Amino acid sequence: MTERKMPKNFFWGNSVSSMQTEGAWNLDGKGPSVYDTVTATANTTDWRDGIDEYHLYEEDLDLMASMHLNMYRIQISWSRVIPDGDGKFNQRGIDFYDRMVNAMLKRGITPMICLYHFDMPLALAQKYNGFSSRHVIDAFVRFAKAMIDHFADRVPYWITFNEHNLYFTDEVFNISGYLSGDRSLTDMYQIFHHTMLAHARVDAYLHQKFPLLKIGGMIAYTPAYPASSKPTDVFYTRRLNEFLNDNLSQAFLGEGYSKEVLTYIKNQKIDADFQVEDQEIMRKMHADFLSFSYYKSTVLNADKIPNGTAPNRYLNQAAEPNPYVNKSPWKWEIDPLGFRNIITHLSNRFKVPVFPIENGIGLKEHWDGQHQIEDEQRIDYHRTHIQAMKDAMFKDGANVMGYLGWGLIDIPSSHADCEKRYGMIYVNRTNHELKDLKRVPKASYYWFQSVLEKNGDEL
Ligand code: BG6
Repeated sequence: MTERKMPKNFFWGNSVSSMQTEGAWNLDGKGPSVYDTVTATANTTDWRDGIDEYHLYEEDLDLMASMHLNMYRIQISWSRVIPDGDGKFNQRGIDFYDRMVNAMLKRGITPMICLYHFDMPLALAQKYNGFSSRHVIDAFVRFAKAMIDHFADRVPYWITFNEHNLYFTDEVFNISGYLSGDRSLTDMYQIFHHTMLAHARVDAYLHQKFPLLKIGGMIAYTPAYPASSKPTDVFYTRRLNEFLNDNLSQAFLGEGYSKEVLTYIKNQKIDADFQVEDQEIMRKMHADFLSFSYYKSTVLNADKIPNGTAPNRYLNQAAEPNPYVNKSPWKWEIDPLGFRNIITHLSNRFKVPVFPIENGIGLKEHWDGQHQIEDEQRIDYHRTHIQAMKDAMFKDGANVMGYLGWGLIDIPSSHADCEKRYGMIYVNRTNHELKDLKRVPKASYYWFQSVLEKNGDEL
């Protein structure tokens, strides 16, 4: 069978967050975010210097353009633009994103903007406990509207919350700006609903005021497989996938939350702060695409789930290694078929374009100052995952908009560790030494460049 050609308008790109990339944490009027208070340990860095893209963006964009990337997903840092989150705008912060977006457009790189990647302005976290408060929804929507108004003429693609389903697991508590409380299920579900409501309001605003712009939902997609064919493994795995994945995807499309999730909330007598007036705006949601991060799959063993555990917390105690797939040095499952499986599932079930906007593998690498880094394992990871995506498109009929790799220029990992590198371009810094931040292409850079010369038709 001859394989079809990749679409001409397919997006190939890079994806980052601001706190892992920009640096310049105390420059030009930026206010502190919760991440600026996380201090380094013996094995980790703090976030604050990132890879100093605040100053080095022209060089980074040149490298991306020379790789033939045509999309860059960046984040606008809320506390750079509104230092305390709900007060005065900081023009110098907006100026930075103007420079950045204009520099992308000059190189033929389409910007995608994410408005929140776990970095709540510190003042809102301290005063309101982050998204547990409805005041913070209003503050976020104010920030989002101002950014959409300002960049609508240049930025066609938008997402609100990075990995929106994580605001529904135990990680919710730091990533939503929640600093104090007993971490109850009520808090968790309220934060989840509040962030969905904030998304819904931004979605409605963007569609009403700028009908040509596109906005998508975004989740962290780590599909779970049953540990065996035991009915309990199959049942609890399906339930987990419903709570963490499909529940959000259907809500992004205006279908409302999953009945199974709503029934659980009701039976458990959880006060999720659903208010009657929320319903209209929730129903209006219509994501133009469904985006997600994908790094690995996981396995669920129902026997290990303690009685009474909430479905969105099953994985905390009952995840198991998968004996059938290889692992990365960080023991993350390498599973390209899992990637095809979820692309096809989302495309079949939800009927809007699907967009993987984070994918990649963290490896330990050290540059000796002279020789090219031979990252064969990374080439293999991207090649097999892109092939799996093409199988989803050409063998299963999935509608896919593009493929963005995560951190294609090295950035500190989400565990504040510079030793876990995702890049096709090395950045010369370690956890504790900034060195010269030199950007050095690895073997995978040249591989991807040659793949993109032919628009991904040959891997
Ligand atoms: C995603 C996050 O969960 O995964 C990123 O959006 C993160 O912020 C990425 O860096 C990879 O995870 P990690 O922990 O290996 O950096």
